[in-house]
Amino acid sequence: MSINNIQIFDTTLRDGEQVPGCKLNTEQKVTIATQLDELGVDIIEAGFPVSSPGDFTSVTEVSKIVKNASVCGLSRAVKNDIKLAAEALTYARKPRIHTGIGTSDSHIKHKFKLTRDKIIVRAYEAVRYAKSFVEDIEFYAEDAGRTENYYLARVCEAAIKAGATVLNIPDTTGYCLPSEYGEKIKYLKENVKGIENVVLSCHCHNDLGLATANSIEGVINGAKQIECTINGIGERAGNTALEEVVMILKQHPHLNLGTNIKTENLFGISKLVSEHMGIYTQPNKAIVGANAFSHSSGIHQDGVIKNRETYEIINPKDVGVTESAIVLTARSGRAALAYRAKKAGYELTKLQLDDVYSVFLDFADRKKEIKDNDIHEIIEKSNSYHQIISA
Ligand code: KIV
Ligand code: ZN
Repeated sequence: MSINNIQIFDTTLRDGEQVPGCKLNTEQKVTIATQLDELGVDIIEAGFPVSSPGDFTSVTEVSKIVKNASVCGLSRAVKNDIKLAAEALTYARKPRIHTGIGTSDSHIKHKFKLTRDKIIVRAYEAVRYAKSFVEDIEFYAEDAGRTENYYLARVCEAAIKAGATVLNIPDTTGYCLPSEYGEKIKYLKENVKGIENVVLSCHCHNDLGLATANSIEGVINGAKQIECTINGIGERAGNTALEEVVMILKQHPHLNLGTNIKTENLFGISKLVSEHMGIYTQPNKAIVGANAFSHSSGIHQDGVIKNRETYEIINPKDVGVTESAIVLTARSGRAALAYRAKKAGYELTKLQLDDVYSVFLDFADRKKEIKDNDIHEIIEKSNSYHQIISA
């Protein structure tokens, strides 16, 4: 069966950059955009041009250098936002304007103080106006996660009628359960006139830790685009992590869903984004965290040394990590010590290993982690030292 391609819409430079204190300058945005293009993302959301002159310049400069991906600029359903987004995208080979409006009752009542019908008119007019500048228009129904499905379908129909090419269904507050989000996508597929002519997109926030699961449910139920950020950064608890959704689709081929991402670049770009934004990546972060391919307990280490797949479902090389790490701690066993000692240049016999292991445990109980220089010291302190070095 042929693999259905899921478009990866990267919003590291827009939603990701909304993390407090992580503002990027134009040069940094251009550097990251170059690597995102190289990674193989399909769309790069470069910024929100009306928000500041600096962001306008960033979207312009990113548009000039991106070779393969579409470049997208965000706007509200406001004429001046849309006009500025179009201007900032002038040099893009494949420009996309992303415009939209809140559709949940909470947004309609408190943010806009409008009626449901008036929101539909605003949505239609915004898409129509954006269409006068570029062909590719993505419409977002902000807070779609908490919008009643019947009304959401009417808003989507208006956006399609006005010329939208992509419909973004954001779970803006990260509220939905995966089953609810999946059902929402399915409902829209079945109840929106003209839906077969547009791409449905998942944009999930991580307030309950469900962003990745919701995006996957979305594509299983017929969405064809996932909006995500490197390392899952973004407003509050962040967005769907690009590296997670890409690797889930790759590791589960039975879903018949794939992406154009060069997965070997994932670790490198994760580090690049973390350095430029000054946000440290948690060590246990899936796929790109420092511990994602580290093994520290004796039982796991023994299993991995015998066969990597015992405790690893991803080959670290597939995501750009050179090799799995066997970390020596007081929980490590003889197999791990022998493995690391060999790497440090010592081939130990069984008796020598028993002897060195008792010195190792004494060290390991005092230190959090045993490094290569500690191994040399441990060997030196063992009774077998002379035997080992003369071998
Ligand atoms: O989370 C959200 O609803 C958004 C929209 C602006 C697309 O980021
Ligand atoms: Zn968002």
